[in-house]
Order: sequence, then structure tokens, then C-alpha cells
Amino acid sequence: MTFPTQRPRRLRRSAALREMVRETSLAPSDFIYPLFVVEGRDVRRPVSSMPGVFNLSVEHAVAEAKLAHSLGVRSVILFGIPDAKDARGSGAYAREGIVQRALGEIKSAVPELQLIADVCLCEYTDHGHCGIIEGGHVANDASLPLLAQMAVTCAQAGADIIAPSDMMDGRVAAIRRALDEVKLSDTPILAYSAKYASGFYGPFREAAQSAPQFGDRRGYQMDPGNAREALKETALDLEEGADMVMVKPALSYLDIIHRVKERFDVPVAAYNVSGEYAMVKAAAQNGWIDGDRVMLEVLTSIKRAGADLILTYHALEASKLL
Ligand code: PBG
Repeated sequence: MTFPTQRPRRLRRSAALREMVRETSLAPSDFIYPLFVVEGRDVRRPVSSMPGVFNLSVEHAVAEAKLAHSLGVRSVILFGIPDAKDARGSGAYAREGIVQRALGEIKSAVPELQLIADVCLCEYTDHGHCGIIEGGHVANDASLPLLAQMAVTCAQAGADIIAPSDMMDGRVAAIRRALDEVKLSDTPILAYSAKYASGFYGPFREAAQSAPQFGDRRGYQMDPGNAREALKETALDLEEGADMVMVKPALSYLDIIHRVKERFDVPVAAYNVSGEYAMVKAAAQNGWIDGDRVMLEVLTSIKRAGADLILTYHALEASKLL
């Protein structure tokens, strides 16, 4: 049966009708809000390539977390930026490290908020790579105990969920074993399973001061041309004990989100990364697009592709509009 019997426009005639038949809707509980925590007091330093995003000292991070919670956001992910970096990224797994302190303070101020610790060495190493360097290369196996130690110290400090983003092979298993050994077997792992070597991370590296000082991350992050490999990475992370998986970035990888969602029966997160955010903000500031409208369209597309959770710098402004 086709036209004139079929008229799809019938269901688009009013806002109420459109809302009734909409297949995808957004809620603040879909969002995970990233926070960049720095040392010091009373620091609220704008990140120039990410309008609306700040480097925050701990007490400002606490205030931002409270605000997020009051808007209905259920979770934040923390990135720590230490004052001192070294070759082994020792600030990443120090008991009193910047991210551990921030986790503790936020947990006591807003206990219901789910705190995710991004586990990776790149913000903490002087060379800016996600693992330690041996013979000019990022050493996979030697980095695992350090990542595991970071996961344990973060969970003990107050993290509810551990999210490894380093892309070393075997890190989910190493982290799962280390958490279990200290009786943290109930702490879930959200694995950055399909994380691509992407130009869209540029503004993040300003925010987190984590640009690699030599080379790039193509030796450990995924090649943008690969899709089947994303399924392999995801399957391996689940075998190693991941509870939730992530695709990152989101917008240039909506097909990957869709395929991961179809194949695996676990919650799927997608990271609407810094470069994606910066493009929307820059175009909106120039008056070239309607920023709010494009933001909601972007977030809807990520959810429609299959993401159950969206890590996004838009979390607060989007929640205010919903
Ligand atoms: C690594 C990490 C990165 C991002 C999240 N975790 C950067 C990288 O791999 O270079 C990027 C997030 C974004 O661009 O918003 N710790």
C-alpha cells in the first residue's frame, strides 16, 4: 500500500504527535560529564579550545559535581592533571594523587553521584604516552601493573566505576584481578574497548596537558579504517571481565556503535569527544549553526546509533534543555 493511502506526514503534524511517535529520546541520566581536576585552590581556568569547559581545583570540581547531580546527571568521569609528571606516571597511582583526592572529596559531598575514574597514564607521564616507554616504544606488559595500581587506588579513594582508556592489551584482565585481590570485586569496569587514534582528541590534550611529546598513539589506539577489529577488541575486553564497553570517538564512528550494540548484550557507552564538542561550539559562536539545536541532534544521533550512555561535555547544557 502506498500513496495516497500511506501518508507518513500524518504523524508529523503537531509537536505532540511527533513526541508521541519519537523513537529516540534523551534524558540527563544518559549523560556522563567529564571533569578535569588540577592542583591548587580556587582554580577555574577556561580551556580555550573547549568553551564552557574548565580546569578545576578540587573544591570547584565538587561544586560542578553537585550542579551536575542537581540537573539529573547521574555520573561524572574524572581526569586528573598533576603538577609534576615523570617517566613512570607515578602521580597516577599515588594514594594522595590529584584524582584520588578529587574522588574522595566528591564522593563525600555527593555520595549518590556515580564516579568514574579514567585509568590511563598519559596525563601523568612526562612523555605524554599512555604507558611507560622501553626502548623507544610504549611497553605493553610493563605498563599493566601501573594501570592496575591506578585502578585500585582510585576505587579505594571513592571511584564507583573504573574506565581504562590506555588501550594496552590485557589491561582489563590485569585491572579485574587487582581489584578482586583487594576485595573490590563489586567495582565494575567500563572499558574503552574501541578507541581509535583520532584527530578529534586535540582539544582534550590541551585540557589534560597530555599531548605525546614524541610520535603519536597509532601504535596502540585503533586505526580509523577498521570496523571488524572493534568487535574483536570488544569481545576480548568482555572475556577479560569488562562490564560495559565504549566506542570513542562517537560521531565518525556511529557505525561502530551500532555494530557493537547489535553484537554484544552489555551496556554500550560512546564518547562525544573534545573535537566534536569544539566544532559545534566554534560554529555556533560564529553564528553558522544553531548551537543548541545541533547539540541535541548530535546527542540524539549517538543514542539512536545504539549508545546507552554518552560521555559528553554538553551534559549540563543539554540537561537544562530537556
Ligand atoms: C586518555 C584519554 C584521551 C581522551 C580520553 N581519555 C586522550 C587520548 O587518548 O589522547 C580523549 C577525550 C576527548 O577528546 O574528549 N587518557
